Amino acid sequence: MEKREQMYEGKAKKVYATDDPALCIVSYKDDATAFNGEKRGTIMGKGVINNRLTNRLMRLLMENGVPTHFVEELSERDTLVKRVKIVPLEVIIRNISAGSFAKRYGVEEGIVFDEPTIEFSYKNDELGDPLMNSYHALALKLATAEEIEAIKAYSFKINEVLKAFLLEHGIELVDFKLEFGRLPDGTIVLADEISPDTCRFWDVETHEKLDKDRFRRDLGGVEDAYQEVMRRIIGD
Ligand code: TMP
Ligand code: ASP
Repeated sequence: MEKREQMYEGKAKKVYATDDPALCIVSYKDDATAFNGEKRGTIMGKGVINNRLTNRLMRLLMENGVPTHFVEELSERDTLVKRVKIVPLEVIIRNISAGSFAKRYGVEEGIVFDEPTIEFSYKNDELGDPLMNSYHALALKLATAEEIEAIKAYSFKINEVLKAFLLEHGIELVDFKLEFGRLPDGTIVLADEISPDTCRFWDVETHEKLDKDRFRRDLGGVEDAYQEVMRRIIGD
């Protein structure tokens, strides 16, 4: 399967059409942004790592009954996926307080919750991805009630599968962001990526940050952290 015209360029990925209208190719870049694009940089080798990690985790989820857009890894940076219409909701699951949760509620990072939390943001860069609840999503017709129920159920299931798998590799899954898409028949599937760009990963022993927070907060060792996650999950 070969790339045809570029359909879309996002902050971290490009999407290309293929000869098959039901499929497209996602190509992962090394570009990194934070704070709605205000902070920009490059994380060398990130595209390769995020492509391979996302595909490994998507495979794991499919083996555990979660439908995804994944079809086939084509190269270091390129993956064939089913073409979907993205539901304009970012779903965030949290197991431990961090980031905007800690800031919003005035608590420290690292509080382990008894139960995971879920929140939605409206995927809209001009508005800065505002937080919303499911009633707001319904009012704006971003998704149907049935779709929102499916998205919630898949998101909690994904959390259970990923949390257990990552722990086996010495990684604590603090929180993460998911995006879902609709296939032409309306089926909801997991789309986008699952990577150190979109998850918070902490070393289970030292709680060292192994994710994009090293870039967001200028902590240094960004490339090393991405490589370490890759090494632990996939090997070298
Ligand atoms: P937050 O604490 O900043 O709300 O982030 C929660 C999780 O979502 C964290 O793992 C990083 C991820 N995330 C994205 O993938 N994209 C985004 O635009 C933001 C703000 C967060
Ligand atoms: N990538 C997002 C942006 O540039 C934010 C983030 O991951 O922190 O807006």
